[in-house]
Amino acid sequence: MSDIVKQVLFSENVRLGEDETSVIILDQTQLPNRTVYLTLRTRQEMYDAIRLLRVRGAPAIGICAAYCLYALARQWNHRDGPFFQVLHENKVFLNASRPTAVNLSWALERMEKLAISRSDRPIREVLALMGQECRRIHAEDIEMCKAISEYGLSLLKDGDGILTHCNAGPLATSRYGTALGPILLGREKGMDFHVYADETRPLLQGARLTAWELQKAGVDVTLICDNMASIVMRNGWVQACFVGCDRVAANGDVANKIGTSGVAILAKHYGIPFYVLGPTSTIDLRCPDGDHIPIELRDSAELREMWYSEPMAPKGVDCYNPAFDVTDHDLISGIVTEKGVCRAPYTESLAALFA
Ligand code: MRU
Repeated sequence: MSDIVKQVLFSENVRLGEDETSVIILDQTQLPNRTVYLTLRTRQEMYDAIRLLRVRGAPAIGICAAYCLYALARQWNHRDGPFFQVLHENKVFLNASRPTAVNLSWALERMEKLAISRSDRPIREVLALMGQECRRIHAEDIEMCKAISEYGLSLLKDGDGILTHCNAGPLATSRYGTALGPILLGREKGMDFHVYADETRPLLQGARLTAWELQKAGVDVTLICDNMASIVMRNGWVQACFVGCDRVAANGDVANKIGTSGVAILAKHYGIPFYVLGPTSTIDLRCPDGDHIPIELRDSAELREMWYSEPMAPKGVDCYNPAFDVTDHDLISGIVTEKGVCRAPYTESLAALFA
């Protein structure tokens, strides 16, 4: 871990337990007030950790799910049923925990595919390969974040003001993060940025996590409510918007945390470049456009009562609580991946990444 990442995270946010039949995560719902590590042993605990955002952020969800599938496979006993059937059932169960971030199904499918490709080998060999594969997914994410950070940094100048929405830093990924990666890397090289962190209603990932990470890294950060993005842009304080992504469709439409599309529309109005940063594991070429991205709907309690000492809305009021929205590709100045910066037309530049 680089020094700056160590300043943010003391230890990996997701890792295998010592016996490799459990997964240990830093519980993101407890931050910034408490640093709590949880050990996930049962598949229900694993499902709940993802569903309840104890582990969150598209790449971190993928890494966690891969470790979980492996840990569950190590727990297999022939009384549970045939190994590959149980593996498949566990994969389907974990995959149902959240629908929008494609990294979840990407990592689970990768793990199952590898296991099935060796189904003629003894189970202990399959397990050994699965153990290597989930560690490889994690190691690749570390490399991807570093490369994304370098490409992203090439888009910034010393002293720039950057607006970000939600949390796409070390907690949501491995090490540097995606949208926050260039900022942390730049800081490491002695550059100064001023970051405006949208609080990100309703679950406050910006206030609780982004502000916490940047403060710990010594980055100049100002927390704003989501509805203050326009004024800071109008004041001339923002030179670029950097956000993460949960799924990028083949035409360049991007699903990210609810509110992201509004930031992109404002950025276009004020002539500010709007960049999306994410690994190629978040690009879903099977999904033609944003209309085909499943958008997660979450519990109304998150709007009505969560974070308040008493409910802040009338009991039983109808709520609409989508966790993500889609930013149209024509609002996006560039999609920064570990392989470089893709520009419009995205149908061509994204496909070229996989050619
Ligand atoms: O609901 P969350 O907190 O998992 O949503 C996370 C985001 O929207 C992030 O911006 C995205 O996953 C990218 S993380 C590198």
